[in-house]
Amino acid sequence: MEVIVVSAESPDQAAIKRAAQLLRSGRLVAFPTETVYGLGASGLSEAAVARIYKAKGRPAWNPVIQHVADTEAAMSLTAEWPRTADILARHFWPGPLTLVLRKSAAVPDIATAGMDSTAIRVPAHPVALALLREFGAPVAAPSANRFTQLSPTTAQHVVESLGERVDLILDGGPCSVGIESTVVDLTGPRVVILRPGMVSRAALESVLGEEVGVKDSRLKLDAGEGAAGARSPGQAVRHYSPNAETWLAETGEAREMKNSLAALAKSGKRVAVLARSAEFPERAGVPEGSRVVLMPDTPEEYARMIYAELHDADVSGVHVILIENPPTTGEWDAIRDRLSRAAAIL
Ligand code: TXA
Ligand code: MG
Repeated sequence: MEVIVVSAESPDQAAIKRAAQLLRSGRLVAFPTETVYGLGASGLSEAAVARIYKAKGRPAWNPVIQHVADTEAAMSLTAEWPRTADILARHFWPGPLTLVLRKSAAVPDIATAGMDSTAIRVPAHPVALALLREFGAPVAAPSANRFTQLSPTTAQHVVESLGERVDLILDGGPCSVGIESTVVDLTGPRVVILRPGMVSRAALESVLGEEVGVKDSRLKLDAGEGAAGARSPGQAVRHYSPNAETWLAETGEAREMKNSLAALAKSGKRVAVLARSAEFPERAGVPEGSRVVLMPDTPEEYARMIYAELHDADVSGVHVILIENPPTTGEWDAIRDRLSRAAAIL
């Protein structure tokens, strides 16, 4: 595996050319997007996309997102381009929004898990866009982590999760959004959010001028990525193996954590805390000397940090990561969704 450091603002063209050349020969290239790092392969090549599934250990029933450089390229992958797609593409692309649309014959079945729809996104990261332009064709890319692990927001996370399974990593520094794109289904009579993200339901409704539905996230869990106990045992060497349990607590429940934390301390186990209020650790009875991180107040800053903080807390070797859940208002929806998944993953 090769790692090339590139400037996030004006990536070196030689590095981009090398990455595009690898994609052309059917290889895997991890690259930064504004959301998380993607594990890219030539999106219209069945053999190349098959490699993604193998490298991630991802089940065949979970389809991947096609990344393209512009709306015109997106349209060429679809059999139908509804008015809603037009509006959303104009407002949110390039950016952290993925549209699910009826697919054209160009998109191979392996990339859509045999469905007649495909997910498409124009990412906003200059490195991703430079790569897509140079490659000149769609790049299929799920998040660049092994199945059931946290999404990577730095090149180091990709190295730890995928190691030699990836041919090249373009290291463009940390991702600015920090959690995966909002996925919306445009194939039905009304627009439905399949996965919440930092493009909020309110923002979608405001530009569409109509109500947007939300798929029940309890049924979704990234189509299995968060299913507790789904991690397959006996995998080859894992550099990053999450061991901690994740406990999610609402702010008002802090005091209810006291007994559990006391029992934990008594048995010699350690806890790391991701708090939102300065009072939370003390109210919850977190033992002196525990690792405590005070998380940011705004959803944007919180999203940017969360995966790295979960990763760091976990590799610090604690037994439990206690998270003070953010508010239930809409702007925190995507973050609460990811925290509940992390609670199932770690
Ligand atoms: O921000 C992101 O979306 C990142 C970056 C790399 O672009 N990618 C990402 O990919 O998160 P992945 O594969 O981890 O998640 C893709 C999500 C999955 O929940 C998948 O089930 C859904 O999109 N998806 C893909 N194609 C679909 C389709 N045709 N219909 C419904 N859902 C689909
Ligand atoms: Mg993923």
